[in-house]
Amino acid sequence: MSDNPKWLNNAVFYEIYPQSFMDTDCDGVGNINGITEKLDYIKDLGCNAIWLNPCFESPFGDAGYDVSDYCRVAARYGTNDDLINLFNEAHRRDMHVILDLVPGHTSWEHPWFKESMKAERNQFTDRYVWTDSIWEEPTGYGSLRGISDRDGSCAVNFFTHQPALNYGFYKPTRPWQQSVDSQGAIATREAMKDVMKFWLSRGCDGFRVDMAGSLVKNDEDSKGTITLWQNMTDFVRKEFPEAVLVSEWGEPDKSLQGGFHMDFLLHFGPSHYNDLFRCENPYFDGKGTAADFVEKYIDSYEKSERKGLICIPTGNHDMDRLARHIHGDNKKLAFAFLLTMPGAPYIYYGDEIGMNYVEGLTSVEGGYGRTGSRSPMQWDNSINAGFSAAPSEKLYIPIDPSEDRPTVQSQLNDKNSLRSEVKKLISIRQAHKALQSKGEIEFITKGEEGKPLSYIRKTEGEQILISVNPTDKPCEFKIDSRVKEVIYSLGDGAVIKEGSIVIRECSAVFAIL
Ligand code: GLC
Repeated sequence: MSDNPKWLNNAVFYEIYPQSFMDTDCDGVGNINGITEKLDYIKDLGCNAIWLNPCFESPFGDAGYDVSDYCRVAARYGTNDDLINLFNEAHRRDMHVILDLVPGHTSWEHPWFKESMKAERNQFTDRYVWTDSIWEEPTGYGSLRGISDRDGSCAVNFFTHQPALNYGFYKPTRPWQQSVDSQGAIATREAMKDVMKFWLSRGCDGFRVDMAGSLVKNDEDSKGTITLWQNMTDFVRKEFPEAVLVSEWGEPDKSLQGGFHMDFLLHFGPSHYNDLFRCENPYFDGKGTAADFVEKYIDSYEKSERKGLICIPTGNHDMDRLARHIHGDNKKLAFAFLLTMPGAPYIYYGDEIGMNYVEGLTSVEGGYGRTGSRSPMQWDNSINAGFSAAPSEKLYIPIDPSEDRPTVQSQLNDKNSLRSEVKKLISIRQAHKALQSKGEIEFITKGEEGKPLSYIRKTEGEQILISVNPTDKPCEFKIDSRVKEVIYSLGDGAVIKEGSIVIRECSAVFAIL
């Protein structure tokens, strides 16, 4: 895809898990109107875009990533009109909302799948990946078998109840494997375009695309999946040029070729994201190393033509809360890094106040170990932390029971709070083009163990040095350019010398060069 829609260049996203953000109808589950009510809170933080996790009809075996009707808001969240109202209210505030598109699979309760299970041929027979005998497994990742009269096994994508939609096989090797240009595969692709069109024409500003790299099967180098996305993103670019598509793919060289505007850095695979935030000794907790992350980041950056369109999230609904591993003011250092990197930053709801991972919960809606990161937003000290007026046993997930749990209310007017620091960091990002999505990046120090992580962000006419030192030792490093002005400092900051900088322990500094 050629140029980005302009709004993406300075977008700072806030990810909302709708179940857990704000409940205004007192059923213990968050809803769309609750999000609309809190738009001013999000805007005040400085975020100007929202990624909303799936909010469509679903049996909720995977928290809504098992869709049973792509074009209808789940009753527990409200109505389509409520969602359209959210789009309008967001636009009124100069904000944008992207939805979560799950194109790879549906719920086994989707009407398409119910038709597809039938022995008689019909319009949906080829909508999913089926073998032609129940004794043959489709893709090696698991299947649904013996569930209807249809003699075949259906491939699944994630959980067993999520049958895989058919976008074809890049290299079919068995008679039942359809090619990428078979009628069945093309019909699936067109049906997914209809879904996109449905929401984009009602005011939605784009999509975060779930498991975007997994659609075409037997596609080792992703060539088939890239071509498929080129077709879909072309359609979006032509009909909705201001719409944004961000992929959950984790390989920007591939996803950007497919036409996505940006790609997520994933917490699995080769990214080394976890080295920074989520491992035994995470770099931002002051102990580990960021060097492997930096190597891999540079590699992806170069491969995607230095476009820098890699989104690094603070966390998300699939991984541990940031605060589970990064302690005290080191969280501020983590944000100083996250909010000065290229691409669009994504703040997972509640991370801005340092919400904790809630330990020991029983799985809710297919969350398993992820459930502890999906607990209700902590607004204040009133009943259910201000999330819902329902009896607490009816809450979707229990509130963090810790007595010292952070709340928005306690942090809002405290200038030393994490939330205040996040707000300040976003406003600095918004004041300097070099710090935004498209500014280039060049690493100066790579955050080896005991060392700071330092880089220069650049656009025409502006160069900003960022140095973040989460370790307990000061460190001196060389710089070629002269420091003109320090625009941000955290902890004891830095000592600027001629040709070098000493960054103090547990400190960060941003300086115009
Ligand atoms: C993505 C989602 C995750 C979901 C899975 C299957 O990784 O982020 O929550 O369970 O896809 O759709």
